[in-house]
Amino acid sequence: MQRRLMMLFLWFGLLNLVAADEYNRNDFPPEFVFGASTSAYQVEGAALQDGRTPSIYDTFAHQSRNGTLNPDVACDQYHKYKEDVQLMAETGLDAYRFSISWSRLIPNGRGSINPKGLKYYNNLINELIKHGIKPHVTLLHTDVPQVLEDEYEGFLNRRIIEDFTAYVDVCFREFGDRVRYWTTLNEPNIFAFGGYDIGNFPPGRCSPPFGNCSRGNSTTEPYIAAHLLLLAHGSAVRLYKDKYQAKQLGFVGINLLCYHFSPITNTREHIIATRRTYDFLIGWFMHPLTYGDYPEIMKKNAGRKIPIFTEKESKLVKGSFDFIGINYYSVMETNDYSIGLSKYPRDFFADIGVEWKYSDPSVLPDEFMFPNEPWGLERVLEYFKDVYQNPLIFIHENGQVAKHSTATNDQFRVEYIQSHIGSLLNAVRNGSDTRGYFVWSLMDVYELLYGFKSTFGLYHVDFNSPNLTRQPKLSQKWYSGFLKGKNTTTYVEKKKVEDDVMGRSSI
Ligand SMILES: *[C@@H]1O[C@H](CO)[C@@H](O)[C@H](O)[C@H]1NC(C)=O
Ligand SMILES: *[C@@H]1O[C@H](CO)[C@@H](O)[C@H](O)[C@H]1NC(C)=O
Ligand SMILES: *[C@@H]1O[C@H](CO)[C@@H](O)[C@H](O)[C@H]1NC(C)=O
Ligand SMILES: *[C@@H]1O[C@H](CO)[C@@H](O)[C@H](O)[C@H]1NC(C)=O
Ligand SMILES: *[C@@H]1O[C@H](CO)[C@@H](O)[C@H](O)[C@H]1NC(C)=O
Ligand SMILES: *[C@@H]1O[C@H](CO)[C@@H](O)[C@H](O)[C@H]1NC(C)=O
Repeated sequence: MQRRLMMLFLWFGLLNLVAADEYNRNDFPPEFVFGASTSAYQVEGAALQDGRTPSIYDTFAHQSRNGTLNPDVACDQYHKYKEDVQLMAETGLDAYRFSISWSRLIPNGRGSINPKGLKYYNNLINELIKHGIKPHVTLLHTDVPQVLEDEYEGFLNRRIIEDFTAYVDVCFREFGDRVRYWTTLNEPNIFAFGGYDIGNFPPGRCSPPFGNCSRGNSTTEPYIAAHLLLLAHGSAVRLYKDKYQAKQLGFVGINLLCYHFSPITNTREHIIATRRTYDFLIGWFMHPLTYGDYPEIMKKNAGRKIPIFTEKESKLVKGSFDFIGINYYSVMETNDYSIGLSKYPRDFFADIGVEWKYSDPSVLPDEFMFPNEPWGLERVLEYFKDVYQNPLIFIHENGQVAKHSTATNDQFRVEYIQSHIGSLLNAVRNGSDTRGYFVWSLMDVYELLYGFKSTFGLYHVDFNSPNLTRQPKLSQKWYSGFLKGKNTTTYVEKKKVEDDVMGRSSI
């Protein structure tokens, strides 16, 4: 997960939890998968070794780098993958979600394959399988090859569709005999919004007065990038379905960052603003994927700025998934600002007509942490069930951030994870077709927002030691116990806002 955007949405809630029902993993369906996640640039290291070239993630991390720690080394999983798979096995994970670095596998973005990159991912996959751990692979987790960004501005140019499809073809062909779960894109909704409107996300594009970047256009580019992300995804899925699925018997999906949006108070404007927010941030992708077009409210508010689906494009995108991956961290309060809809020019964000609380990105607050609001996860899953025809879902990321320190006693993280798994169980019992849950993150990794200063890991990583020593935290011990069948207790919030948005989009 990319922390940098998160701060836009950060506020501090009081923990107000009470112990509720007991549960254990046998309360989940027998095939339900539990795992942990990372992504290539954030964990691999060896950024410039063995033929890999930089991605837009590298470029962005170097620009915002502050301090001596080097994101190009990260956790050095590239060299330590065997040790790390051992940790996963000890924890008892069913699955590991990781991503492939496009520019490690195909350093020029297109064309010849890097044999050392190919070997690395074969080794990692084989090591996982040897330990009975299922690989769940993300094909693009923010790290578009820099060479394609330089050549034609990446996801602003239709040429990306062909290059992305050729890249995933290599992955399906080389790894698809062992990998059964493929995710085309990680959080394209946030990539389009953060990368092209606010500019606080790779590739860091925006325009004044909406942000301070050296290039970009906040009013139009988020919509263009999202459209091309959808088409590149659709093209990758079509390839998999036409050429590989019958033989490899795998599944292919896409992943979105989802908040539960909740009106700041129960007045009509805030409730309607909340529906708009669901449509802009989730419907932006889920409407085309389910119904073949953008939500009406987006077309209305964005007007000519939002690309129109041709019939062919609509057909390519509609229904192009076997599952949806959801990254869920917290609830966000929505505050109507529809008065701003009469202003011009408007960026993507202003087109929503809401206001969120901002906090200063240069300050890392002492108590930086998500409020523990597990009920929001249940609400999001109910929303997908009602509005998007109950798709098959994996929770691809969920976890608690805190300042990186030497302390491994992360009781707050235990409470966060156990209450969210409890909430997930409620949703599954009420009919959500969720089939798996992954903690973000397996270990402390490089995070986009605060680098190595605040982390999410089940394992502590000592970034100051040459060995990058891994050490289990209390949360690892708890998760491991849960995976091995121990009973646990869920927590529920004492008071929740009753927000009348479920089951309804604004159209
Ligand atoms: C675990 O919880 C279940 C209810 O979910 C209960 O029936 C069982 O006795 C508990 N086991 C232990 C060892 O506490
Ligand atoms: C870099 O970090 C130092 C100390 O942590 C801080 O004072 C400074 O403002 C930071 N600079 C930027 C550009 O974030
Ligand atoms: C925008 O960025 C430039 C270069 O980093 C800096 O000099 C300038 O002060 C910034 N402007 C604002 C309004 O933040
Ligand atoms: C963004 O693009 C639109 C449409 O081409 C144009 O009208 C507008 O002036 C551009 N804005 C900036 C800041 O370049
Ligand atoms: C359970 O599902 C039903 C049918 O979709 C829905 O009406 C109800 O609100 C859900 N319950 C909760 C607690 O979300
Ligand atoms: C680093 O690892 C090596 C080899 O495993 C070991 O000999 C050494 O003591 C370790 N150093 C630290 C600081 O942990």
